[in-house]
Amino acid sequence: MVSLSLCYFAEDFLNNRMDRGDHPLMTPFISFEGLDGSGKTTQVRLLATFLENRGIPISVLREPGGTPLGEAIRSVLLSSRTVGLLPLSELLLYYAARNQNVRQNILPAQGQGKWILCDRFADASAAYQGYGRGIDLSLVKFLNSMVVQDNNPDLTLLIDINPAVALSRARKRNRQTTVDEGRFEQESLEFYQRVRQGYLQIARREPHRVHVLDGNQPIENIQEEIVRLISPLLP
Ligand code: TYD
Repeated sequence: MVSLSLCYFAEDFLNNRMDRGDHPLMTPFISFEGLDGSGKTTQVRLLATFLENRGIPISVLREPGGTPLGEAIRSVLLSSRTVGLLPLSELLLYYAARNQNVRQNILPAQGQGKWILCDRFADASAAYQGYGRGIDLSLVKFLNSMVVQDNNPDLTLLIDINPAVALSRARKRNRQTTVDEGRFEQESLEFYQRVRQGYLQIARREPHRVHVLDGNQPIENIQEEIVRLISPLLP
C-alpha cells in the first residue's frame, strides 16, 4: 500500500520542480540523515545498488566531503585529535564543505540528469550545530540561504534510532577502523538526545520532505520502505 506521505512526496516533487521552472523530469535529490550509527550509510549503498541495477544514473555524495577540499575539511572536523574547535567555527567549516559540494558536485550532476544520493546534508547542521550545540537556528538558516539557496533535497530519509543504541554502535565501529573519525562519538548521550529531537522537529515542520524511518527495524525492512517511497519516481 502506498502511504499518504508517499503520494505527497511524489506530488510535491513534481510541483516544486514546475514552480522553479525546472524540467518536470529533472532527477530527484535525496538526502539521508540520522544519528551516527543509525545505519544511513548502509541504506545509501543499498539504494545506490538498486538504482544502478535499473540503469539509473546516480551520483553518491557525502557530507562533509565529496570534493577534495571537502574531504580535507572532513578530516579536520571528524578527527578526534582536533581540539578546541569553537561551535561557530565548526558550523562554518561544514558550510564551506557544503558550498563546494553544492557547486562542484550537486548542480553539475543534476545537469547531467543524475539522481543525487547524499549521505547527510543541511539538516545535519541544524540538528548537530543548531539543536546539539545550541547555535541560533536563524544563523543556520542564513547560511542555507547563501549556500544551499533553493537546492534543497526533494526527499530526506531520516533514520530514527535510540541515541544510546546509535552511540554504542558508532563507538564500536570506530574501535574497529583505522580511520580516525571519532570526534563526535566522544559527545555525551545528552548531546545525541538533543540532536535526535532536532531531527524529529525538522521532520514535524516539513512532513512532505522529511520521511522518518524506524531505524530499529532490520536493514532489509528499511530498504523495502525506501524503495516503496521512491518507486513513484522511477522512470
Ligand atoms: P557521517 O560521516 O555521516 O558519520 P556517520 O557515518 O558516523 O553517521 O557524519 C560525520 C559527522 O559529522 C557526524 O557525527 C555528524 C556530523 N555533522 C555535523 O555535525 N554537521 C553537519 O552539517 C554534517 C554534514 C555532519
